[in-house]
Amino acid sequence: MIKKCLFPVAGYGTRFLPATKSMPKEMLPVVNKPLVQYGVEEAIEAGLTEVGFVTGRGKRAIADHFDVSYELEHQIAGSSKEQYLTSIRDVMAKGSFSFTRQASMAGLGDAILNGRRLIGSEPFGVVLSDDLCVAEEGVLSQMVKLYKQFRCSIVAVQEVAQEDIHKFGVIDGEQIKDGIYQVNNMVEKPEAKDAPSNLAIIGRYILTPDIFEIIENTPPGKNDEVQLTDALMTQAKDGCVLAYKFKGKRFDCGSVSGFVDATNYVYENIYNA
Ligand code: G1P
Repeated sequence: MIKKCLFPVAGYGTRFLPATKSMPKEMLPVVNKPLVQYGVEEAIEAGLTEVGFVTGRGKRAIADHFDVSYELEHQIAGSSKEQYLTSIRDVMAKGSFSFTRQASMAGLGDAILNGRRLIGSEPFGVVLSDDLCVAEEGVLSQMVKLYKQFRCSIVAVQEVAQEDIHKFGVIDGEQIKDGIYQVNNMVEKPEAKDAPSNLAIIGRYILTPDIFEIIENTPPGKNDEVQLTDALMTQAKDGCVLAYKFKGKRFDCGSVSGFVDATNYVYENIYNA
């Protein structure tokens, strides 16, 4: 059983400045809900109710969001406005929330390693909340099912256009079932001409806990950062890593245009549905 999920949320969100000058990018609202809450709801739906945030300076609003706001609760108790708190109350009732800090921005691999003290020695999920996923069955739920069958690390992938490939970790693998690949190569943000395929990793992972020791022994890679992709490549070589072409849509809310697309989609198909 997987119960834990890590959210690396220490990044600066420079692409959204000045909005993110004093507010974490994860708190930007997609319609009426902060981006990070979508990811947390997806994790909880998958049964990953022990949520751990790897946070950093200037991110206290995230911790406050998943805590009781006593004054607000008191003020609107019994009024018609209470309905607006339903979704966050539900999340808080089902989940537990822990926080640890990443002191320096040394890459996604380093962020995950910082989360070790919240995870221990169990398999766990990872959500990069910039990627907002909308699916009939949540993407993490789909991946947890797959984990039960294969018991190894899994990365979610989707096909992306040539001109976007340099933004992602890219895998090459052997298809072992419809939409499931055994990974035999993985490269972090290659140039299009060097990419091993058009299958890009998106921000959903299931990781087995041996990944921590592998990360510890992984030297900095692309952009001089410790890359999770490089650690996963070691895991794939020594054991098994699967890539899973998930069912559903993904919006890149780390970019302004993706964020606007997500907002329009959520407004039309979820908020007003
Ligand atoms: C990270 C990972 C990359 C992955 C991407 C998905 O990159 O390093 O492998 O494809 O997330 O969103 P980032 O976008 O944080 O630079």
